[in-house]
Amino acid sequence: MNNLESILTENRVFPPNPAFAAKARIGSRAAYDALVAEANSDYEGFWARLAREFVTWDTPFSTVLDESNAPHYRWFTEGKLNASVNCIDRHLPTKASKIAIIAEADDGSVREITYQQLHDQVVALANGLKSLGITQGDRVVIYMPMIPEASIAMLACARIGAIHSVVFGGFSAEALRDRINDTGARLVITADGGMRGGRMVPLKAAVDKAIENGCPNIEQVVVFERLGNATLMAERDITWSALTAGQPTTCPPVMVDAEHPLFLLYTSGSTGKPKGVQHATGGFLVNAAMTNAWVFDLNDDDVYWCTADVGWITGHSYVTYGPMALGVTQVMFEGIPSYPDGGRFWQMIERHKVSVFYTAPTAIRALMKLGDEVPAKSDLSSLRLLGTVGEPINPEAWMWYHRVIGGERCPIADTWWQTETGAHMIAPLPGAIATKPGSCTLPLPGIMAAIVNDEGELIGPNQGGNLVITRPWPSMIRTIWGDDARFQRSYFPEKLKGYYLAGDSARRDNEGYFWIMGRIDDVLNVSGHRLGTMEIESALVAHPLVAEAAVVGKPHEIKGESIVAFVVCKGDRPEGVAAEAMVKTLRDWVAEQIGPIAKPDEIRFGDNLPKTRSGKIMRRLLRGIAKGELPEGDVSTLENPAILEQLLGK
Ligand code: WT7
Repeated sequence: MNNLESILTENRVFPPNPAFAAKARIGSRAAYDALVAEANSDYEGFWARLAREFVTWDTPFSTVLDESNAPHYRWFTEGKLNASVNCIDRHLPTKASKIAIIAEADDGSVREITYQQLHDQVVALANGLKSLGITQGDRVVIYMPMIPEASIAMLACARIGAIHSVVFGGFSAEALRDRINDTGARLVITADGGMRGGRMVPLKAAVDKAIENGCPNIEQVVVFERLGNATLMAERDITWSALTAGQPTTCPPVMVDAEHPLFLLYTSGSTGKPKGVQHATGGFLVNAAMTNAWVFDLNDDDVYWCTADVGWITGHSYVTYGPMALGVTQVMFEGIPSYPDGGRFWQMIERHKVSVFYTAPTAIRALMKLGDEVPAKSDLSSLRLLGTVGEPINPEAWMWYHRVIGGERCPIADTWWQTETGAHMIAPLPGAIATKPGSCTLPLPGIMAAIVNDEGELIGPNQGGNLVITRPWPSMIRTIWGDDARFQRSYFPEKLKGYYLAGDSARRDNEGYFWIMGRIDDVLNVSGHRLGTMEIESALVAHPLVAEAAVVGKPHEIKGESIVAFVVCKGDRPEGVAAEAMVKTLRDWVAEQIGPIAKPDEIRFGDNLPKTRSGKIMRRLLRGIAKGELPEGDVSTLENPAILEQLLGK
């Protein structure tokens, strides 16, 4: 790769809030530097210390890191543990009556579940699963609404050493069938339905359809009665209540090896066929708990809310495993941010006195579009820290989050990581690291991140290149289920000296801060200049009338590629003369903000952009549309397929 050119400059800096830092777990830059130095001088000792601090081992590990079979790294071998014990049992002596989950349903009704109740329900289900013959190593697919029973199902699997694979409840019957078959699962745990935005999500019907279309290994389906409506119960179906009724009130946890797979999770697939990312029990838990404590600075009295669904990695690391390993109280929400109105998130923060709030840039941009009056109606004074994940957050959205939601007092943790990394990799420790809007800042202590060219050579400040991790870390992907060759090829390509290749382009600034520039596959090449998508999109979103933007390249005879921008405006979609005027305004705006090289050749307006179900813009599809083609290939993971035709102008 010729180095990527960086064309955007962002100079605002927000030092840690002194009041926050005074109470933070890691409360100064010096404390951060000391941790980095510790990891640099004794890498294994550093991780061993954290593994003992954050995880309870049934049998202590003796080897910290085994690199003999790279890139199949093994962590904490000979150690044995159980993830459900770490998330529940070990808290019971001191926190049995502490609320683990405040669950708000789509209709606003609230249930509270203590750690003792969580224990009892996990144990009952685990015993139920055992009675169905599920044992260690079996795969179980979980297809549930965003309700506590989703986490309970995950923890029940973990308790008996079964490997769960959660499939997001918004996926279709076909996507579900493919994932079920790829895992070879014997059992599906689902619900009769879920509720999102006032509408019923027919989960059980989708499971039935998936099985009808061919899931030869499935022997049994467990159905949680979320709605209590009469679902057709086939021979293979059993209700959750029937399965758990009368089960013993204890269930001895299966102590598994640290490397035993905890779960498989299929990536959102904004490019190509989904991959079953395999995570190991010990290393995953260490990183999930440690980053939850450090990056979100969680304490015993926090009310924490991560809005991600358990169907994504964020819901694994930062809903089920991380917060519960720390024994915190968290909010879980079944519904969507726009129902019954766009103030739902802010009303819930007020209602439950949320102190730490973690969401995605796509949600922030959508809510920002509704105007400042909406959050102004709610009391957000309980908040003390905000987080984002999933995509680069444009400086404009960052500033809005900071000003309007955080009241200029809350640090923002922009957390860069991936399904494959299992936990935060690059993110500010909020009491220690000054933040810059749009930068995920510095690697966490113990994470060796770098920017290299295609030969794996380090490149200098402010040059874009490949983001890599140069040393293994505990929660890293172990393999792709059933396709180890793809694992090695995708993440450890030969020319990269054994570094982990993230697939993102990024640059570091003069202070070593990381700025993610986009996916490598999305890089544009305009007249010999290689540009990331992020910077042009940020400039567009910085215009007061723009809510969202996505930029792609289109083949061009002279320039190589021309720049096509897809833009969603605040308010109505401009048409006719208004659209023409807006195109001119935005082209001039980008030229002024970052220079003529980045000026879009073409701008199209839509009511929305094509996104994966997890909210990521699918630039792969937009590249086709820019050329005037309806995209070929898999669009089944698309949230809003109708938008393609609109953007195509049909
Ligand atoms: C990709 C991973 C990590 C949990 C949710 C998504 C992008 C993620 C950031 C961020 C810039 C980000 C990257 C990454 N991404 N967080 N803070 N800043 N980009 O998990 O579906 O595995 O996606 O999301 O491109 O590679 P995922």
